[in-house]
Amino acid sequence: MVNMDILKDNVGKKAADLIKDGQIVGLGTGSTTHYFIRYLGERIKNEELNILGIPTSYQSLIKAREAGINTTTLDEYDIDIAVDGADEVNPTLDLIKGGGAAHTLEKLVDSSAKKFVVIVDESKVVEELGKFPVPLEIIPEALRVVKDTLVDLGGKPELRMGIQKDGPVITDNGNFILDTKFDKIRNPHKLEKELNIIPGVLENGIFAGLADKVIIGKMSAIEEID
Ligand code: 5RP
Repeated sequence: MVNMDILKDNVGKKAADLIKDGQIVGLGTGSTTHYFIRYLGERIKNEELNILGIPTSYQSLIKAREAGINTTTLDEYDIDIAVDGADEVNPTLDLIKGGGAAHTLEKLVDSSAKKFVVIVDESKVVEELGKFPVPLEIIPEALRVVKDTLVDLGGKPELRMGIQKDGPVITDNGNFILDTKFDKIRNPHKLEKELNIIPGVLENGIFAGLADKVIIGKMSAIEEID
């Protein structure tokens, strides 16, 4: 395992240990949450826990099935605790998410949870958000006009392309992603709201003021910030 994977493994396990019998759990998306999902599945099996997961993407649905976690939907249950990764975390626990193009459902699930726990390795911790471009999920018809609006707001939007570079990434909801670089994000709360009122934008990847706890995997130790 390379070093970052060890850190992700450590925080995934730490978060899985927080889950209590009988809870409804939001299952985040991404490589760090895969460790969480795997450890949670192990606990459910070994301790015979009665837990249901609510996935934030098709990816986490598949991971949950592989781990033996039964799933349900937000339509049927309230969420006790959600555990998710992040692409950037600042000192006031504001986040940029959406590196896996799943931030729309992630924001719905994470914001609906009574407690939202973020798990990251130390490379995600920043003083100020904005090195990682802000992902915006947009409906395909809005591509040109939303790009123009984002440039007017000082952003540098780029359509996210698939690995083969021969077509755009399509989200679980059938939409495009515009990764938008802003020089500095001084006020994440304000920018999050400004981006979401642009017609054609479904959701953006700034999660300001949502996280209740961040667990950071460091080479030296695990740090928890509430
Ligand atoms: C997916 C996300 C992920 O949580 C974020 O990209 C972090 O992923 P990873 O743990 O693989 O670094 O927001 O939309």
